[in-house]
Amino acid sequence: MTTAPSAATASAAREIPGRMVAGDLVYRTPPAAVFTRSNGVRLYDVDDREYLDGEAANGALTWGYDAEIVREACLRAMAMPGLPSFCESSLRISVIDRLADRFERAVGVPGRVAVELGGAQGIEMALRIVAAHRGDGPILCFQGGYHGRSPFTAHLSASSRYRASQPWPGPEVVRLPYPDCGSCPHRPLNGGCNAACASMVERLGTNDMLGVPGAGASRGVAALVVEPLLNVGGFALPDSGHLRRVADHVRSLGGLIVVDEIFTGLHRLGPEWGFQLHGLDPDIIVASKALTNGVTPFSCVWAREPLADPAVFPPGSHSSTFAGNPHSLAVVDTVLDRWAGWPGATESMAEFARELRTALEVVAKRDVVRSVEVVGGLARIELTGPHASAVRAKAARADQRPGLLLASTGMAPSVVALHPPLVTSVADIRLMAEVLDDSLKELEGDI
Ligand SMILES: Cc1ncc(COP(=O)(O)O)c(C=O)c1O
Repeated sequence: MTTAPSAATASAAREIPGRMVAGDLVYRTPPAAVFTRSNGVRLYDVDDREYLDGEAANGALTWGYDAEIVREACLRAMAMPGLPSFCESSLRISVIDRLADRFERAVGVPGRVAVELGGAQGIEMALRIVAAHRGDGPILCFQGGYHGRSPFTAHLSASSRYRASQPWPGPEVVRLPYPDCGSCPHRPLNGGCNAACASMVERLGTNDMLGVPGAGASRGVAALVVEPLLNVGGFALPDSGHLRRVADHVRSLGGLIVVDEIFTGLHRLGPEWGFQLHGLDPDIIVASKALTNGVTPFSCVWAREPLADPAVFPPGSHSSTFAGNPHSLAVVDTVLDRWAGWPGATESMAEFARELRTALEVVAKRDVVRSVEVVGGLARIELTGPHASAVRAKAARADQRPGLLLASTGMAPSVVALHPPLVTSVADIRLMAEVLDDSLKELEGDI
C-alpha cells in the first residue's frame, strides 16, 4: 500500500531541483542557498549574498577555499592525466611515501599505506585488513559513532536510519556506551555520570551476556573502531583515560585498534592526529577529508607492519579504477606541501583554540547555551534543548550580515559546532561568534 506523503515531506520535496536524487542533501537543507563561488572562508550565492563557512566544508577545508591548490595540483597532474589506479606512477609512489612518513613518525613504527576513494571506502579497506588477520569476529564501536553510510559501513555507524535503505547483512557489531557522560543514554535521570558504563566495558569478554568472546575463544574480537572525537555523534570528545582503557582491554581480547581520523586528522583537534590527543596506539589509521582540502575525494589507510604485507594483499586483491588517480594524488601532494610549510602547526593550533574560546565567551553566557567546549579548531556548543536546526537556519540567513554555516547533526539535536578552516583570521573568528550570538539571541526570543 502506498501512503500519501505528509505535508512536510511534500513541501520539502518541492524544494529539491527536479532531476536530483535528494539522498545526499541532508546537510544542505537548510540552508537552501545555491552557491556560485567561494574564496578563503567565504561562499557567495546566486544573489551574491555572503556566507562564512563555520564548518569548513564538513571538516575538509583546513586551508579555506583556495583555487591555488586546484591550479598547482592541475599543473602537477597535467603530465599524466587520467592514469587508472592499477598502473604505477612516480607520483603515487612519492605521495604514499609522504603519507607513510607522517604516520610512522606519529605512531613510531613502520607501516604501509593504501589509497582509497572516500571515507567509507577507507573504513572498508581497514576492515579488510582486520578480517585478513582476525577473521569475522565482532567489531566494537561506540554508540554515537559514525564511520560512513555505504552498505557495509552503515552497520558500524550508530543511527538505524543509515541502514534503513540497505537491508543486507553486515558484520557483527557490538556498541559500547556513548563515551560522553553529558548525553550518554545510561546516565542517571538526575544527571551526572554512570560509572558502571566504564566498568561494563572492562567486563567485555568475561561475561557472555555482553556478546563479546573472551581471550582465547575460537572466534575472538576483530577490532575496536574509534573516532578521537565523535563527529556525527555530536562532536563529543571522549575521556582519554577511558579510551585508553577500552583500547587496552580490546587488545587483551585479541582485537586490532582502528582509529577513524577521517574528520579529526591533520590538526583539527590540535595535534596532527586525534589519537595523539588521547595517547592511543593505533594498528590501523584511516584519514581522508583534510588530505585534499575538499578538492577531490580521497582517503588513505595506514596499517602497521606486517598487517598489510603483500603476502596478505597481493597485487589485484583490492582494486578500484579511480582510487589513485593522478589528479587526486596531485591534490594530496600539493596539500602536503602546505602542511610541510607550517612546521609550528600544533603550537599555532593552541593559539587558534584560545581565539575561538575568547570569541565564544559571550555565547557561553546565553541562557539557551548549556556549555561551550573548545578542542583545537573545534567548538562544541551544547544548547539547553533540541534547537540545533533552528540555530543553524537562523545563522545561515544572509540578510543584514553574512550568513554563517554551522555544523549540526541529526544524532545530537541539542548541539551545534563551529569548526572553521584553520586559516580563519582572528577578525573572522570574532565575526562568526557574533553571528552565532545574534542567532542564539533570536532563538531566546522565540522560545
Ligand atoms: C568520522 C567519519 N568517518 C567516516 C566518514 C565517512 O566519510 P565519507 O562521507 O567520505 O564516506 C565521515 C564523514 O563525515 C566521518 O566524519
